[in-house]
Amino acid sequence: MKNNHEIKKYSGSKILVTGGAGFVGCNLAGQLAELGADVTIVDDLFTGELKNIENIPIKDFIKGDVRDERLMKKIIGKFEFIFHLAARNIIVSTKNPLEDYSVNIGGTLNLLLQLKKSKNLYRFLYTSSVSIYGNTRYIPINEDDSYNLLSPYAVSKLGGESYTKVFYENYDMPTVVVRYSNVYGISQNASNPYCGVISKIIEKIKNDQRPLIHGDGEQTRDFSYVKDTVDATLLAGISDKSVGEVYNIGTGVETSINSLVALINQLYHKDISPEYIDRRDIDNIRRRVVNIEKVRRALKWIPRYTLKHGLSETIEWYNSL
Ligand SMILES: NC(=O)c1ccc[n+]([C@@H]2O[C@H](COP(=O)([O-])OP(=O)(O)OC[C@H]3O[C@@H](n4cnc5c(N)ncnc54)[C@H](O)[C@@H]3O)[C@@H](O)[C@H]2O)c1
Repeated sequence: MKNNHEIKKYSGSKILVTGGAGFVGCNLAGQLAELGADVTIVDDLFTGELKNIENIPIKDFIKGDVRDERLMKKIIGKFEFIFHLAARNIIVSTKNPLEDYSVNIGGTLNLLLQLKKSKNLYRFLYTSSVSIYGNTRYIPINEDDSYNLLSPYAVSKLGGESYTKVFYENYDMPTVVVRYSNVYGISQNASNPYCGVISKIIEKIKNDQRPLIHGDGEQTRDFSYVKDTVDATLLAGISDKSVGEVYNIGTGVETSINSLVALINQLYHKDISPEYIDRRDIDNIRRRVVNIEKVRRALKWIPRYTLKHGLSETIEWYNSL
């Protein structure tokens, strides 16, 4: 990373990663541990897995729920940085909106309330999602474009994000929000029924099976390699400029699911045609690509990986399993 002098400041800091046994969380925790930070993970293992963190030298793992007031009250005051990634995913959210509401909004509010008295907090970082934009009139999507909430998940992610913003405005809490676009990469396990589209396609093509595509495959997404996502998150967490801000984290590159299948085929030297099946409720977004100009200017961050490069590393990891 060009500005890696900034992230070296994490060395020796006391950091809590909620949802740290999950896909993005374990990559983030691994990078923080490598930087010499003192990392604690709290995760209820709803989708997270201990195998994701078994080789990471973290200080502590707590199996717990971010909604647990007593637990949070007991542990939270000592941390300088909180990276809040724990959340129910879009599939669970659609099936059980009440559970989604309770974790994604209630869990976030619980953390913020417990942090109000903290004397040690340097930054609370909330991981939101570009799903809050829904189907937009214009692309690429800017941070201040209007929201169009098309799923319970989008509602709850914006709810958590809004509480985060309100604690900055009302209580001077040093918060920042990052809105992730579709993240893919190492540790996104295809055996997890909630994993992203890339791991599902890789798993199928690797095993000489036809990947399933919901709809016509011409829907587009902005795919972000997890190492880039983690770099951007680390910069947002440490930079003085980011307090009270919200950043899109993606690539600015629009990719259709059909071209994604073609690229994964190419990397496997195969030519397996996809099978088109019905559109799901959660596939109601036609085109998505975000503008990353704000984060580029403010934090001097740009993605290091092209889709091809990120996919090659991801495939290498899958092949090693
Ligand atoms: N992966 C993406 O493409 C993407 C895109 C946009 C936003 N995000 C956001 O990034 C964050 C991380 O996503 P991910 O892809 O790593 O998902 P993930 O499901 O792999 O990780 C979430 C982690 O949170 C844990 N968790 C869930 N509920 C919890 C609770 N009540 N208490 C404690 N732990 C709990 C899970 O066990 C899991 O380990 C989430 O907040 C998600 O909304 C991810």
